[in-house]
Amino acid sequence: MYLANQTRETYPKAISALKKHKNAVVLAHYYQRPEIQDIADFVGDSLALAKQAASSNADILVFAGVHFMAETAKILNRTKKVLIPDMDAGCSLADSCQPDAFRKFRANNPDHLAITYINCSAEIKAQSDIICTSSNAKKIVESFPLTQPLLFAPDLNLGRYLIKETGRDMLLWDGVCKVHHAFSLAKVKALCARFPFAKIVAHPESDQAILNVAHFVGSTSAMIDYIISSQAQTFIVGTEIGILHQLKNNIGHKVLIPMPIQADTSCACSECDYMKMNTLEKIHACLLHETPAITLDDDLIDRAFIPLNRMLSLSI
Ligand code: 13P
Ligand code: SF4
Repeated sequence: MYLANQTRETYPKAISALKKHKNAVVLAHYYQRPEIQDIADFVGDSLALAKQAASSNADILVFAGVHFMAETAKILNRTKKVLIPDMDAGCSLADSCQPDAFRKFRANNPDHLAITYINCSAEIKAQSDIICTSSNAKKIVESFPLTQPLLFAPDLNLGRYLIKETGRDMLLWDGVCKVHHAFSLAKVKALCARFPFAKIVAHPESDQAILNVAHFVGSTSAMIDYIISSQAQTFIVGTEIGILHQLKNNIGHKVLIPMPIQADTSCACSECDYMKMNTLEKIHACLLHETPAITLDDDLIDRAFIPLNRMLSLSI
């Protein structure tokens, strides 16, 4: 059962046997391939995954997501071995915010506290005052007194959305998620003309023009909850298409239309190349060989833990 030579059909069984043998769990984000979500012990949004990682008793955590998520798991549960199926699974938002530039941004605004979106590296977390995800960002902004100047990084779209929602002014870093920033307002409007009763559901990493026409804006898990509980039958879903897998499992009878993007690609819908780097084959290999593993200096873990833990204590 632990042999390296597996076929597509035998991976789920082989992964399950390895998990049992090694006391390992697989944590997967909603943007993972359907077959990965199906073998995962837990599927969730960034906040739920961080909480699962922090409280896990397993010896090995396999993070089926992107690098900043696996780093977060290591920071929150440092004695565990945290494996990532593909070390190159990055994030355009995290890449937009490099430590030296962020240090300068903070130094130029010394009276501002930094609220930083979880989609960033451990080094950026260590330079931040508090972390947030899309599901708790509003609550975290509102936890600061009105007199406290704030800066928000690295997602410009989420930052603008938070300013609008909270009425708080914040200095914003200029980064975007290349997946959510690519949605086409013109194509969404054309879809609305064809499906006049469709509800537009969007992730807050999307451009302001999309958020302005959305009936609901929220994190991946909030989008799922909205679509499941809504009386409406048709939805234009503005996030990475991996989310459709959990929705189809729960509400097969509703019509789910992936939000179209500007460029014409084969499917013309949004896929995160980084999230899709993970495969069952790579998950099996990383469990078998226990590599690649996330390694971070103790000092960096100590510094990055503080703002992450502040977020968790405000997210109960
Ligand atoms: P959430 O699942 O927390 O909404 O995050 C979406 C995302 O883009 C993760 O990379
Ligand atoms: Fe980063 Fe966007 Fe991919 Fe999420 S969907 S991992 S924010 S590039």
